[in-house]
Amino acid sequence: MHLSHILAISVAAAVPGLCQLDKLAKAAGLQYFGTAVDNPALNNQGYMKIARDASEFGSITPANGQKWSNTESSQGRFSYGSGDAIANIAKQTGQQLRCHTLVWYNQLPGWVSSVYSRDQMQRIITSHIQNVAGHYKGQCTHWDVVNEAMEDDGKYRQNPMYRAMGIDYITHSFKTAAATDPNARLYYNDFNIERCCNAKINGTLAMLKAVKAAGAPIHGVGMQGHSRVGKSPSKREMKETMALFSELVDEVAFTEVDIRHTKLPTSAADREQQAIDFLEVVGACLETKKCVGITVWDFADQYSWIPGQYPGEGEACLWDKNYNKKPAYTSIASLLQSAASAGLRSPPTTTAVATSVGANGIMTAAALATATAVAK
Ligand SMILES: *[C@@H]1O[C@H](CO)[C@@H](O)[C@H](O)[C@H]1NC(C)=O
Repeated sequence: MHLSHILAISVAAAVPGLCQLDKLAKAAGLQYFGTAVDNPALNNQGYMKIARDASEFGSITPANGQKWSNTESSQGRFSYGSGDAIANIAKQTGQQLRCHTLVWYNQLPGWVSSVYSRDQMQRIITSHIQNVAGHYKGQCTHWDVVNEAMEDDGKYRQNPMYRAMGIDYITHSFKTAAATDPNARLYYNDFNIERCCNAKINGTLAMLKAVKAAGAPIHGVGMQGHSRVGKSPSKREMKETMALFSELVDEVAFTEVDIRHTKLPTSAADREQQAIDFLEVVGACLETKKCVGITVWDFADQYSWIPGQYPGEGEACLWDKNYNKKPAYTSIASLLQSAASAGLRSPPTTTAVATSVGANGIMTAAALATATAVAK
């Protein structure tokens, strides 16, 4: 382990009076620190005590409740029970509601994927967005309008919507969402678009240019931020990517962050590496002017989607299944606190930041504070 790693973790442990993530994130100049919440967790009191704590999470995202298979599983019959159960929490607590997602190839009912006609698909998308975004109108600070439209090789994903309409389905979805809920910030959201500059990022940039030119009102790009401990993109790589997206949209965000261990059980060193990897994400956001916030894709391990999707992997969240905070939590809190006291979001000069980044590209909370102090 590098000395800087030990430093980051011991700094986190030593800082007195740590408070919760959203409070610290806002003090540091972000708009929110959020989490996904899924319906099976709603009757778990220990979980809900944390999920409903607006100082911890200023924003919540329905993990599944607003997806097409839940909201319109048969044509024209809309059901909002699962989505509303999460949205109602936000109403009660004053948390922001980050809404997810309107048009996605996955968790898509068969009656949509069997449509080949362009006109029919356009009518179906129009109706779906008008109904679902209409139902949640005024509640969503952000909408992930189109999710995962690109392939890793940078080509358009050959999904049923693309098959019927070409890239017009993306433009049409954004236009319809804007007309339906003009106050929501409208996002394109995807995974594997964090590490600059892979083919998927290049393809995504080209797609954004094309659909913007066709009149799509896209406000933001969401980088999901799913990654693996020890293999995560560096802060520098993510900042490079966000700089490119920032040329095209008003805001960027990390929307589904989890960093999974590929080998279980984990050692203390593994958990410290996870903390370092989370710090890279948070640091990248803090140091990117247009990055507005960070959402983790659930906060407690027993409700993470990872073990179901990647058997044998997991423990990707900030809290373990017994609601103990991991080193990643305390390190993030410490970094946010340092950034807040340093006034980082009135950013220091690039050169000052560069000198404080170690050979491994990692800036610890302490180094960040020093760099900022130097820059002032
Ligand atoms: C992505 O685009 C950049 C800039 O044009 C280029 O340097 C890079 O090689 C591209 N990457 C891939 C994987 O195509």
